[in-house]
Amino acid sequence: MADSINRRWLLAQRPSGNLKDSDFELVREAIPTPGAGEFVVKVTHLSFDPTQRGWLAADSYLPAVKIGEVVRAGGAGEVVASNNPKFPVGAKVQGAFGWQDYCLTDGGGFWPCATLHPGMSAEHALGIFGTTGLTAYFGLRDVGQPKTGDVVLISGAAGATGSVVGQIAKAMGCTAIGIAGGKTKCDWVVETAGFDACIDYKSEPVAKRIKELAPKGVNVVFENVGGDILDAALANLAQRARVVLCGGISSYNAASAAEIQGLKNYMALTVTRSRMEGFIVLDYAPRFAEGVKALADWMAAGAIKSIEDVQEGLENAPATLRRLFEGKNFGKQLLRL
Ligand SMILES: NC(=O)c1ccc[n+]([C@@H]2O[C@H](COP(=O)([O-])OP(=O)(O)OC[C@H]3O[C@@H](n4cnc5c(N)ncnc54)[C@H](OP(=O)(O)O)[C@@H]3O)[C@@H](O)[C@H]2O)c1
Repeated sequence: MADSINRRWLLAQRPSGNLKDSDFELVREAIPTPGAGEFVVKVTHLSFDPTQRGWLAADSYLPAVKIGEVVRAGGAGEVVASNNPKFPVGAKVQGAFGWQDYCLTDGGGFWPCATLHPGMSAEHALGIFGTTGLTAYFGLRDVGQPKTGDVVLISGAAGATGSVVGQIAKAMGCTAIGIAGGKTKCDWVVETAGFDACIDYKSEPVAKRIKELAPKGVNVVFENVGGDILDAALANLAQRARVVLCGGISSYNAASAAEIQGLKNYMALTVTRSRMEGFIVLDYAPRFAEGVKALADWMAAGAIKSIEDVQEGLENAPATLRRLFEGKNFGKQLLRL
């Protein structure tokens, strides 16, 4: 190992409201030595996901990160020291390595380490073939159940998941309408991600624009944002629509439940006999190989592409997480170490 220091970002305090530098502390420690059954990964890439904000705040579908623990994040890297025959030195791997240069692990836990498929880049492993692409695939296909000719409305359309959902919707013969913040992003959603249209929620009346673009209503809503944007979608449902509650990033920085915007138009679900259903991608783990194959086949056919936004340097980890909440990322947010 060439370096002798392991830089690690620890959680210094539970964040309240927008993330601050003081929520985190950068420490320098010796690179760990593997014990029996353990190995050390030199982390090369980290994945940034809005759900990380939730892991810092409270227990949810995973236990909260403890104060003083390394900040949890998915990552990719290479094994540089090993006492584990399943993960020998030189193996390219992915797992929950966290915000640090080197990760000591036995490869197990609630997020087991896995070897990268031969030839697969770290960017693709963490993005299109990682939880991002798989969230788009299983959320749209299994929960949204789109049929050819359906209109699919996607919020957070320029983000990691949303940009893939729209591409899959197009590949399945649907019309894809995005919602994103700002003209530059909306142009990108149409020109780069290939959606049919995109509504700028920062300057356009969202419910009115959905009605203009989908006068017969939307058949599938893939919801990443929540709040007012979900309400605008609910006001425009077709009969027997499916609302996929993937996420609600507009509320993740709320300091208390009182700050979270409730829904006004939920009775539209009754009137249109529609269904709103949440899901967690980890529940689909036994079927991940199916999702990866479907995404790879679409990519090989040129129907979808992987779009990544790669920042540089472990020292920029807190700022990179904030990018998601400042709307700065286009596609999958990654950090190269
Ligand atoms: N259910 C699951 O298993 C699962 C798995 C993965 C992700 N998710 C959820 O899916 C959603 C998207 O995740 P992602 O990883 O693909 O991230 P992402 O879309 O790349 O997230 C960042 C984007 O969210 C938008 N945003 C941020 N704050 C906002 C606000 N207050 N109002 C409206 N838009 C806001 C910004 O886009 P604009 O510039 O357009 O505002 C930003 O670029 C998140 O809600 C996440 O929690 C769920």
